[in-house]
Amino acid sequence: MKPKFGTLEKRLKEIKKNNLLRTLQDSSVEKQFIKINKKKLLNFSSNDYLGIKPTKIKYSQFQSSSRLVSGNDRSFSVLEKKLSKHKSQEKTIIYPTGYMTNLGVISALAGKQDTIFSDELNHASIVEACKLSGSKIKIFKHNDMNDLEQKVQKTKGRKLLVTEGIFSMDGDWSKLNEMIEISEKRGLVTILDDAHGDFVLGKDGKGTGDFFNVQKKIDVYISSLSKGLGSFGGYASGKKDLVDMCINTSKTFIYTSALPASINQYSLLRFNSNREAYRKRLWKKINQFHHRLNEIGFFTTSTSQIIPIIIGKEKKAVEFSKFLMNEGIFAQAIRYPTVKKNHARIRISISGWLSDKEIEYSIRILEKAKRKFNLN
Ligand SMILES: Cc1ncc(COP(=O)(O)O)c(C=O)c1O
Repeated sequence: MKPKFGTLEKRLKEIKKNNLLRTLQDSSVEKQFIKINKKKLLNFSSNDYLGIKPTKIKYSQFQSSSRLVSGNDRSFSVLEKKLSKHKSQEKTIIYPTGYMTNLGVISALAGKQDTIFSDELNHASIVEACKLSGSKIKIFKHNDMNDLEQKVQKTKGRKLLVTEGIFSMDGDWSKLNEMIEISEKRGLVTILDDAHGDFVLGKDGKGTGDFFNVQKKIDVYISSLSKGLGSFGGYASGKKDLVDMCINTSKTFIYTSALPASINQYSLLRFNSNREAYRKRLWKKINQFHHRLNEIGFFTTSTSQIIPIIIGKEKKAVEFSKFLMNEGIFAQAIRYPTVKKNHARIRISISGWLSDKEIEYSIRILEKAKRKFNLN
């Protein structure tokens, strides 16, 4: 008799053999720390970049329904209005997660007859969203404007461009200003997924668009509330018609339960906090960390709070991460398929929580690891 689950066991063995097995570990996070197996580690794997002081939120009954049915608590419209202003856009729609926002918005906006130009390093949720839309997909080389322009020139029909603001696994900025030039010249719809730039870059954390002074030229903003702001949820901002179209056609909006109102209240509390002071504190830490990394001979193309230490082989990256963990540093090994094969890395994310002493300590451990693993 054939096994019930077909090749499941074989596939899992293959994943393990290639050093790509992922497992879950019980943990608890508090400020800059994570506790695993009763061991308290410095957490360099959290995307709570600003590190806004946590506040207690009141219990609220869950809506237990989709937003269009009976789940549209008033907290949604209060937060959406604030986010529209934050992005200088007409209207905003909140989805349960950033992943669902990409799926819902891109598939509502693009169809079979369209072509989407997508950066080769775009996040999995963008990749899946493009596929879901049924559009033709043209991948351009990472941040390569010549490649993009050449591909655009050869393409007829309606065209859309999608990029991240700060790339999630490399920590570099997209050449958003140059992309906007191409979009304007060639009539492309520009979609920016600013999950990692939002609340971090630009004045008041308005994001990568503000940083490059092209905020008003972005057609669709997509972001996550689960990273810089340290809350939960995803959102898209744009023209009123675009948002109304999402409300009417996005399956990840229509056919899923609404976020609990308490989460929106938490987002609002954090949004209304003194974010600019937190952002300035974060940038001080980012610059300090980059500076010290260079001093110990680590050079990266990152220009942000996300700093990859490129290792190469998956096995070595896992061992590197374990070594750090034994020394009290939690920084995950990122492997295929999140990044290309043999491009495994340790992804360090800096948060404003870190003290100068903690930064110095982690630099010393990284220096020790660099020697042990023979990294140049
Ligand atoms: C660029 C990018 N977009 C979207 C998402 C998904 O956001 P969320 O975690 O809110 O689902 C992520 C998450 O890592 C991301 O890095």
